[in-house]
Amino acid sequence: MEKSSEDGKEEITIALASDWATDTVESDMIGDLIANKDPDYTIHLGDTYFVGMKEEIRDNFLAKNCSWHRGASGSFAMLGNHEMYSRGISYYRDLLPSMGVYSKEKKKYAGQKASYFCLENDHWRVVSLDTGYNSVGIPLIEYILKPKCDFRKEILTWLKEDVKIDQDKRGIVIMTHHQYCTAFENEEEYLKPAEQLAEIIGKDRPVIWIWGHEHRLTLFGKYSSEKGITAYGRCIGNGGMPIEFKNKIIPERIKDRNLKLYDERVYSKIKNIETGYNGFTMLNIKDNELKLEYFDIKDNLVVSEEWTADNQSGEIKNTELKVDLNDPGIILIK
Ligand SMILES: [Fe+2]
Repeated sequence: MEKSSEDGKEEITIALASDWATDTVESDMIGDLIANKDPDYTIHLGDTYFVGMKEEIRDNFLAKNCSWHRGASGSFAMLGNHEMYSRGISYYRDLLPSMGVYSKEKKKYAGQKASYFCLENDHWRVVSLDTGYNSVGIPLIEYILKPKCDFRKEILTWLKEDVKIDQDKRGIVIMTHHQYCTAFENEEEYLKPAEQLAEIIGKDRPVIWIWGHEHRLTLFGKYSSEKGITAYGRCIGNGGMPIEFKNKIIPERIKDRNLKLYDERVYSKIKNIETGYNGFTMLNIKDNELKLEYFDIKDNLVVSEEWTADNQSGEIKNTELKVDLNDPGIILIK
């Protein structure tokens, strides 16, 4: 768990972007928008394109003119599958030492020690976990024996013995690169991490779960798989990669997965193929209040939601999703 130099500050803002590191005009624009919000922390939820090589890590995160914005108090990077296509070497060797909590004394970021971490106050815990490490299988064989993106045993031990996630009643926000569920064709559902979490915190304790990997903005209501935790899923994988619309909704999943909102707006065309809006998310925590605001690449606030946590009862409560942008391409399911 990271201790911030801003410990004790009442209100904390965290900018989140996933599947962002494309080093494109779009990722540069998102990086600038995040910088303009002046967040305390910034978190990349994984995927440095295309294979997380040192040149790609450099161009997105390390070069003097790179587009990644480091938060005033800290900046963190999660591990996706794309960094693992080069065995995560540059992610661990080059990127993580440049991230972490900002040390005012040393005037530098202190280094991120692992691919998983927890930010917390007295009411909420934001627990970022690594589904990337076990996301890449053996070439060709992985088409039959699909990677499960399960958490390594070190992470489970850390959750139980250091975070002690099951031993208090603060609200929980889980963040991973890979999705728990999806409503779209040709996308995987990674159930194993949800089952591993259920073994520690129980199946019925609801959490907010933010993920990427799928290049969409998609929000779900309360959902649990047969053996997985109960989660309100938020897919924010629209950070930098072009958003394609070729994968259609599986109609029965709308009810089964409790789909609440998705963004079908057309932003641009590439080679005559329509692409959607990239975006980022602002997570704001003040005492027991938590706010999520989903922005697009034009800095429009698309949708927002507010939560409260009761650290005595363990209950978390949310408002209805508030669609802030009036556009028929924002599909809200009642
Ligand atoms: Fe991914």
